Amino acid sequence: MSDKQQQNKLWGGRFSESTDAFVQAFTASVLFDQRMYRQDIQGSQAHASMLAEVGVLTTEERDAILKGLDEIRQEIEDGEFQWSVALEDVHMNIEARLTDKIGITGKKLHTGRSRNDQVATDIRLWLRDEIDLLDGELLRLMSGLLDLAEREAATIMPGFTHLQTAQPVTFGHHLLAWFEMLKRDRERLLDCRKRVNRMPLGAAALAGTTYPIKRERTCELLGFDAVCENSLDAVSDRDFAIEFCALAALSMTHLSRISEELVLWTSAQFNFIDLPDRFCTGSSIMPQKKNPDVPELVRGKTGRVNGHLISLLTLMKSQPLAYNKDNQEDKEPLFDAVDTLAGSLRAFADMIPALEPNREVMREAARRGFATATDLADYLVRKGIPFRDSHEIVGKAVAYGVSKKKDLGDMSLSELRQFSDQIDDDVFEVLTLEGSVSARNHIGGTAPEQVRAAVARAREALGA
Ligand code: ARG
Repeated sequence: MSDKQQQNKLWGGRFSESTDAFVQAFTASVLFDQRMYRQDIQGSQAHASMLAEVGVLTTEERDAILKGLDEIRQEIEDGEFQWSVALEDVHMNIEARLTDKIGITGKKLHTGRSRNDQVATDIRLWLRDEIDLLDGELLRLMSGLLDLAEREAATIMPGFTHLQTAQPVTFGHHLLAWFEMLKRDRERLLDCRKRVNRMPLGAAALAGTTYPIKRERTCELLGFDAVCENSLDAVSDRDFAIEFCALAALSMTHLSRISEELVLWTSAQFNFIDLPDRFCTGSSIMPQKKNPDVPELVRGKTGRVNGHLISLLTLMKSQPLAYNKDNQEDKEPLFDAVDTLAGSLRAFADMIPALEPNREVMREAARRGFATATDLADYLVRKGIPFRDSHEIVGKAVAYGVSKKKDLGDMSLSELRQFSDQIDDDVFEVLTLEGSVSARNHIGGTAPEQVRAAVARAREALGA
């Protein structure tokens, strides 16, 4: 074999000198795209089966190819496969090995196909598998949240706006707000899957192929919902990957917001919750430290997924039809977006059910922050005072409380009556934290009863 052929057996025909050594390494993708080996083999086996059905391959040829590819998969999984940068990518590595193993028949596998439709098919198969795994982790996290929300349906904490105490809420209600964010993430994930699950194979390099292929058959064998309808679009479209990164970035953004609250709440200043030691680490200099590393890291990792979305959008924006080598750059951002989201979801699904609220501290924080001021204003409205006036009256009562270091619920009736003679004994029920949360008893409200009902509805919708 000449030097030129040895370097790249699969496309060397028209070349008169071998590839520059640096260019070879620079243009190769095998170091990262080998992770799609399973999907590459799956796609090749379906393609070969279809070619035999339409008479392009004999059944003996097909059987040799299917068996050879099964063995290659095993070699890879046993760590025995020799990946070669000279063979550029996962596709040519596997094809070259097939020809080594079964001889000339191996060279027939690529009939009616191109690496352009092959790689587009591999990424879609790969992403589809990953979406299904992500969905499992997301569901685990969501059902852990529902269990916790049910347990904490009546636990009282301050609700915040501007990070200032606003009104009392139940911790279960706050957890269900997180749940709603994740529920929308899951809808986006499953919706994206529909557009991922389309088959490019058969588009060949860009224009289709002259062989009598049956794309519907390959489509069925690979479990795709439908074929990509246009061959030029099939080999060049990566918007499914962009869409995935967009939903991954949004999902990481939600996890990051949750992380921020966990970081705040585990601080000595809030002390609302404890995270078990196994999700935290210490400091090498300050012996007292227990740091919430998992939420901090998830918050930090959100940035890289946002970056991957921008990478892919930028990668696509000026590409003329059809396939361009630029698209080889789609894989690392996509792979890392999947890995980062998967790791973050897994950590959260493990950690969230284990968090321990400090119920007394939460309750005390709600009690101290004049959180029932709106309840007092609403009470005066029920006594016939217009809301704007009652707002003013309660504002004065709060100012008095601030100066006396007394919450509304700790004032005597005569103290309260300084501000309005409409205030009677029945006010104290309104000023309790329980009274405040239970009064918000409508769908989407914070009342414990509503939290329990929302958990039940969510469980039913998840089938969990
Ligand atoms: N490694 C390439 C990629 O990731 C495979 C397709 C290459 N096609 C080509 N005509 N060079 O996109």
